[in-house]
Amino acid sequence: MSEPKVKAKRVLFFDSGVGGLSVYKAVKALNPDVEAYYLFDNECFPYGNKGDHFLIKRIEALLEKASKVFELSAIVVACNTASTVALPELRLNIKLPIVGVVPAVKPAAKLSKNKIVGLLATPGCLSREYTNNLIKNFASDCKVIKVGDAHLAEIAEDRLSTGVVDRAGIEKIVKPFTSLPKAERPDTIVLGCTHYPFVKDVLEELMPDVRFVDSGEAIGRRVKTVVKEAKYIETDKIQNRAFYTGVLKNYEDREKMVKDFGFVSLEKFEL
Ligand code: DGL
Repeated sequence: MSEPKVKAKRVLFFDSGVGGLSVYKAVKALNPDVEAYYLFDNECFPYGNKGDHFLIKRIEALLEKASKVFELSAIVVACNTASTVALPELRLNIKLPIVGVVPAVKPAAKLSKNKIVGLLATPGCLSREYTNNLIKNFASDCKVIKVGDAHLAEIAEDRLSTGVVDRAGIEKIVKPFTSLPKAERPDTIVLGCTHYPFVKDVLEELMPDVRFVDSGEAIGRRVKTVVKEAKYIETDKIQNRAFYTGVLKNYEDREKMVKDFGFVSLEKFEL
C-alpha cells in the first residue's frame, strides 16, 4: 500500500546566489513548518551589475518555469536587486502570492538618531526608481548616503563557499562611510542586499558605532501572514530542496553548504 500524502505549505526562495539563504533562515525561524525550495540563479550571478531588461526577462522566465514544474504555495523573491526591478511584472504573470525583499529604508529612517542613514546595496538596486521612491517616501527627514558595489555580494558568496572572507576588500568598499568626518557618518546602515548579512560581523568590526538593519525578520512575519492564506500542497514527505542553474563549478562545496542549511538535496534546474 502506498504511503498517505502529507499536506504542506511549500515556499520557493529565489536569489541570484546564496544571499537569499539569509532570508530563508529568518523566514524559517518564524515559520518552521514551511517546506522550502531554494533556487539559485548562479548562472547569471551577480545580478547587481546587470541591466533592467535582461533581469526582468531572466527572472520572469525562471519563476514562471518554477511555478509550473513545482507545486508551490508562495514565492519569496529573496533578492533586493531582483525585487526592485521585477516585482510588478512577476505579480502580473504568476498567479501565486509573491513576497518581495526590498531595502529596509523605512525602519532604518525610524531608528536613526542623527538622521544620517547609509544604504549599502548593489549598483543596480541603488539606481532603481523603486529604491529612490522608498527613500523619498520613508526617509525624507534623513540624509541618505548610498554606497553600491557589485563585488560585496561576491565576497559574501565566496565566504559561504570557502569559509574565507576578504576583509581588506570589504574595508575598501565601505570607505565612503568610514572616511567621512565622524559627525557626518551614518548611525544606521541598511543592508540592502540579502548577501550582506553573511558579512555583517566584518561590517560591525569596521563600523562599531553603526546599527545595521536588514529585511529578514520583517519578511519572516510577512511570509507568516501570506502562508496562512496560501494553498496547501500534497506531498509524500516534507523536505527542503535546493536547485541551481547552468553549471556549478564548486558543486561539492555548495551541496555541503545547502545541507548545512537544512536542504536534503542540490539539483539542477532546467530552464
Ligand atoms: N542578493 C542580491 C540582492 O539582494 C544581489 C546579489 C547579486 O548582485 O546578484 O540584491
